[in-house]
Amino acid sequence: GTRTFFIGGNHKMNGSKSMLESLSKGMNESVESKENVEIFIAPSYPYLDFLSSRLDNKKFKVSGQNCYSVAKGAFTGEISANMLVDLGIPYVIIGHSERRNVFGESTDLITKKTKYAISLGLTVILCLGEQLDDRKSSKTEKVLSDQLKDFASFTPEEWSKIVIAYEPVWAIGTGVVATPQEAQDTHVFIRKWISENVSEDVAKKTSIMYGGSVNAENCQNLSKQSDIDGFLVGGASLIAADFITIINSAV
Ligand code: G3H
Repeated sequence: GTRTFFIGGNHKMNGSKSMLESLSKGMNESVESKENVEIFIAPSYPYLDFLSSRLDNKKFKVSGQNCYSVAKGAFTGEISANMLVDLGIPYVIIGHSERRNVFGESTDLITKKTKYAISLGLTVILCLGEQLDDRKSSKTEKVLSDQLKDFASFTPEEWSKIVIAYEPVWAIGTGVVATPQEAQDTHVFIRKWISENVSEDVAKKTSIMYGGSVNAENCQNLSKQSDIDGFLVGGASLIAADFITIINSAV
């Protein structure tokens, strides 16, 4: 396709020096760069620089898992987009379902964080997704529209720094992956939303990753869908052989 295919490993609150040492060794040895494919890992914060210095930076990037909406100050436990830029990190995940649902982040805060990170030149992996109840009661499109609402006012230039990650909450860490058709249909809906609320050009150019129980088996059929432009991988990204298989499924 014409869009960049993104494959990201989101380590969440997992990992250790020895695990990252062997993961980066495995990845450096077994992955070849492909045109139009971007690969990144979002380790737990303390390991950002440790991982970055071990991965082959020509093939792989590292990403933050989150960052706050201002440059610095009295915000214990937070990290700033400026720090990621200072470390030479190009990506940050914002609005992950665990941030929304475990830590209570509002769509309003997520929008502010995204705007700030983009203003510093970071590319934001913006996560969206509905809960099981939403899907069962046919509210998926309403929930996604609400999560996207504030991004209608973002300029095409700002949108060029946004990659969407569609992650149905019921598929995250459950082993219940969306079917290729379910994911494809929802990606088409998101692209249509962008087309109607931002522009057709932005809709065409924006990569939409899928996340939620992606593994070494199901990645093949998902990656064939024309509107699936990558994967955000949790559990399977912690296992070198599985993550490498998923990387190699990129089309
Ligand atoms: O960011 C990654 C997602 O939350 C998916 O996690 O692959 O463990 O289901 P999972």
